[in-house]
Amino acid sequence: MLEIENKSLLRASGTNSFPVENPATGDVIAHVPNMTEAEVLTAIEAADAAMPAWRDALAKERAAAMMRWHDLIMANQEDLARIITAECGKPLAEARGEVAYGASFIQWFAEEAKRVYGDMIPSTLPNKRIMVIKQAIGVVSAITPWNFPVAMITRKVAPAMAAGCTAIVRPAESTPLSAIALEVLALEAGIPKDVLQVVTSLKPQKVGELLTTHPTIRKFSFTGSTAVGKQLLMQCASTVKKASMELGGNAPFIVFDDADIDAAVAGAMVSKYRNAGQTCVCANRFYVQEGVYDAFVEKFAAAVAALKVGDGAAEGTTCGPLINQAAVEKVTGLVETAVSAGAKAVVGGTKHEAGDNFYAPTVLSNVRHEMDITQAEIFGPVAPVYSFKDEAEVIQCANDTPYGLAAYFYARDLGRVFRVMEALEYGMVGVNEGIISTEVAPFGGVKESGLGREGSRYGIEDYLEIKYCLLGGL
Ligand code: SIN
Repeated sequence: MLEIENKSLLRASGTNSFPVENPATGDVIAHVPNMTEAEVLTAIEAADAAMPAWRDALAKERAAAMMRWHDLIMANQEDLARIITAECGKPLAEARGEVAYGASFIQWFAEEAKRVYGDMIPSTLPNKRIMVIKQAIGVVSAITPWNFPVAMITRKVAPAMAAGCTAIVRPAESTPLSAIALEVLALEAGIPKDVLQVVTSLKPQKVGELLTTHPTIRKFSFTGSTAVGKQLLMQCASTVKKASMELGGNAPFIVFDDADIDAAVAGAMVSKYRNAGQTCVCANRFYVQEGVYDAFVEKFAAAVAALKVGDGAAEGTTCGPLINQAAVEKVTGLVETAVSAGAKAVVGGTKHEAGDNFYAPTVLSNVRHEMDITQAEIFGPVAPVYSFKDEAEVIQCANDTPYGLAAYFYARDLGRVFRVMEALEYGMVGVNEGIISTEVAPFGGVKESGLGREGSRYGIEDYLEIKYCLLGGL
């Protein structure tokens, strides 16, 4: 395993710590510093002090350091994957994929660092020139979730660092180890101390307040629930901080009767059961047209029944635990309420005997739009399947949510593909695809699913300020 002790969290006093548990076994796997507010303040000052040298380095120097970081992450892919699985529970194969996905943002933005172009605007007067330059916004703070303990950090800090900003990250208290490992590897890669700092703490509200209200911090980025995001956004208003919010989702997954049903089932499996249903873009509601409803449910249920539930570190596991007891209780309540209102558990529908934090992969049929589960972000391995008659009805149902992150549909008629793609009120749409995430495309939502875009050539813009310069007397 990576040597992570004593190299990182340089500002932590070490007098106070909290345990990190493996959600599959309940074992305590590490203790990390429970940093004080004073230590977080010191980190903010250090980030501010480190900023000028990092910002003023040539873009190609920042890019080279980031590429070394990328290469070190990939050289340690297996160890990082094991850390992810141990603290977040996802199967090892998925964890390996997450390391590569996370590293891809560093590589992408290292390349983008060299392409932060300005503009010359045709002047309105002969002796003047109008110039636009883009500059690093300043110190950045981020609060990241437990479901992607590596990738949600790199997707934020890589564009920040490429732009010339320094960054402070508070990882979720259940998954701090991956974050610490990333910081260690950044230092080993030669990224100057304090350009990237991880602050671990059991006081999310207090630290969240500092990271969203401190005047030195000019940009805040968050991935997590819509409820918490709204609160953090209000806090950012106190210093008019630029904010990016990647919040909750309620993704519809629509199967039209002209779809390739086998492809739709394969897409449904990856979209729904990745990380045991614990992603913001997981399909949350399955709408299947009447004519293919029974065929889809039968094939989907068979594929779900074949999932291998267990500790993510065990060979062959395809569905790991939920993150904690509260998550299991929430999913249990949603399924019980739906079943008592007339839904049928075709497969699953109960907790799983693999352990306290496990829930059986579940398919619910006969689900109706008015049931409570329709408006809930399930965040677990449960797929409610609804039936619909026509395009107009399903578009209305699909958009009937305050969320607007990801949507998916399977169809082959070209006219329908364009109509539905354009009518869905979502930031991302997968057409005949169940996985849409990649570093080269803009990730983000509309409505209450968030603000801003991460990844892609758009992702660096949130970490830059535009400066207009009028040159006169020429
Ligand atoms: C998320 O669940 O927030 C991220 C999912 C992804 O990047 O694919």
